[in-house]
Amino acid sequence: MLTIVSICIGSGTIFYTNFLVEQLKEREKQQIELFAKTLEYTINEESGSNIYFITDKILFENKSIPTILTNETGDIIDYRNIAIDSSRHSLSEIQKRLSRAFEDMKNRYEAIPVTVRDGHSSPIIFGYVYYSNSFLLKQLTYYPYVQLAVIALFGFIAYLAFSYSKSAEQNRVWVGLAKETAHQLGTPISSLMAWMELLREDPDMKEKNAITELDKDIRRLQIITERFSSIGSVPALQPENINQIITNGIQYLRPRISSRVSVKTISVSENIMVMINTPLFDWVIENLIKNAVDAMGGEGAITISILRGSERRVFIDVSDNGKGIPKSKIKEVFKPGYTSKKRGWGLGLTLAKRIIEIYHNGKIFVLASDEINGTTFRISLPST
Ligand SMILES: Nc1ncnc2c1ncn2[C@@H]1O[C@H](COP(=O)(O)OP(=O)(O)OP(=O)(O)O)[C@@H](O)[C@H]1O
Ligand SMILES: [Mg+2]
Repeated sequence: MLTIVSICIGSGTIFYTNFLVEQLKEREKQQIELFAKTLEYTINEESGSNIYFITDKILFENKSIPTILTNETGDIIDYRNIAIDSSRHSLSEIQKRLSRAFEDMKNRYEAIPVTVRDGHSSPIIFGYVYYSNSFLLKQLTYYPYVQLAVIALFGFIAYLAFSYSKSAEQNRVWVGLAKETAHQLGTPISSLMAWMELLREDPDMKEKNAITELDKDIRRLQIITERFSSIGSVPALQPENINQIITNGIQYLRPRISSRVSVKTISVSENIMVMINTPLFDWVIENLIKNAVDAMGGEGAITISILRGSERRVFIDVSDNGKGIPKSKIKEVFKPGYTSKKRGWGLGLTLAKRIIEIYHNGKIFVLASDEINGTTFRISLPST
């Protein structure tokens, strides 16, 4: 709608100004014709000696339209309103400017002939009046374009300011919500840990496996809290061995995903160091693996390849052989709220993008996706 309305306003302005330009042109033409006629009349009436004085007078009345009067052979007799200052410009400069203006006039409008009778039966040509557009007319021709350009520039700046304030607001929501979540989780976790200590001392409990399982869950809750508190502040990056981080992440996820899904890592080297915030990066890998598992319907193969790209970059490609992303949706998947799942929030990839791009100064994108070969997401990070 916005585009259509802007196009309408733009073309309306141009159309209307062109209409004004045409009218002004017509008026200037009439003015010049009147000059020519007056000239003709005066020449016919007066004796020859006064001609130059009169032409000068008449042409002098015209203060805006550039005009040149020539004799019948085309030599310039007089000119008006051409940017020439005879006190400042040299003779050659005057000549140059005059001939340039003359060429322009010849190409623009047809010259108006001035005829004399002077005793002859049929009129003979005395000279020609050449003219071009006045400064006002020239300005009016360009005016709508200048105006539209200024409006467009203003609109662009307004748009930038608006989108900046929008994303600043989104940031505040992300950060605020994450901090609050971490904060709220903190209290029950500390209390759970205290209870754990008590339970550990209970001999009845030792028999059962409960303690170990509870311990795992508490640790899991701590990881979650750490993630939320990391995303709610400026997370510290540390040089980490990327293979190690990914292997640990997979180890953690392995018991939580179907045994019919295989997960393997391929790496060009065992010692690739990258600046990483581990709790947040784990979260990204977890989201990508979960999405891959969903896309494969719980059966298939996930491959994580760690590669070295050019210009000191490390690529982490997460591939699955699932159902792929339709071409039209590839741009959508990173937008908050986009999901194709019944129970999805459409936040996993938004979060991943935020973590990689804002906190790790990297990039995440769909490298390839089709129905047959599945999908590959690529994370590109600067290497240390
Ligand atoms: N590996 C993949 N293969 C096919 N489609 C995918 C893949 N990863 C993401 N998608 C598509 O992108 C959508 C958005 O993913 P995203 O992780 O942001 O949200 P979600 O998984 O639907 O919900 P959640 O917030 O629980 O993660 C998914 O619903 C799915 O349609
Ligand atoms: Mg997801």
